[in-house]
Amino acid sequence: MKNAIPLVIATRNKGKTSEIKALLKDFPVEIRNLDDFGPIPEVEEDGESFDENAYKKASFTARILGYPALADDSGLSVEALDGAPGVHSARYAGKSAADEQKCAKILEEMQGKFNRKAAFECVISIAVPTGAALTYQARCEGLISDKPLGSNGFGYDPIFYYPPLKKSFAELTQEEKNQVSHRGKALKEVRDEFEKVLIWLRQHLPVQEKFVCAK
Ligand code: IMP
Repeated sequence: MKNAIPLVIATRNKGKTSEIKALLKDFPVEIRNLDDFGPIPEVEEDGESFDENAYKKASFTARILGYPALADDSGLSVEALDGAPGVHSARYAGKSAADEQKCAKILEEMQGKFNRKAAFECVISIAVPTGAALTYQARCEGLISDKPLGSNGFGYDPIFYYPPLKKSFAELTQEEKNQVSHRGKALKEVRDEFEKVLIWLRQHLPVQEKFVCAK
């Protein structure tokens, strides 16, 4: 696409990259991900909020590669567990724990708890190499079920019951989940605003110096 703006998705996850590519396919943007750049240092996701982690990933990637970058951070917050697992969602049951173990840990901690309210949250940050960033966020509210239900999806989907559809996230198709999920809603917000995002990106792109070689 002519005059397309480069945008690096700060992930090596192919599924995430193709989802974002499909969503922004009508815009003059050239999507790449970290795999297009070979080995680069990993940023540590040690922020205290989804917002902090998303910004950290996006701005680090933009600075190190010199291109605008988009990053997301998401997770599950359970009211009766004071917001846990929150930013620790990925490693809540240990670094190499399987999704089943993560779900089992939550179910165990929720035993006997009357308040089952929980929410998936997602923050998307789009940063430029100078450090400035735009932020989009969305959440999806539901309840922690008594036992795992369904086999689709990933992570905490089997224990996240979504009352409006009377199913757990793991009982929904990918399409159904995208319509209502935290990530689906945040990405939709990005797409709806993308004309403005492009203007902002153009204003903040680093100026490429032109050198004229002496003859
Ligand atoms: P990430 O920000 O996409 O890396 O997600 C962090 C962690 O939150 C994942 O490893 C999952 O455990 C959990 N998580 C995020 N989004 C979802 C979801 O849509 N369903 C289930 N678990 C999720």
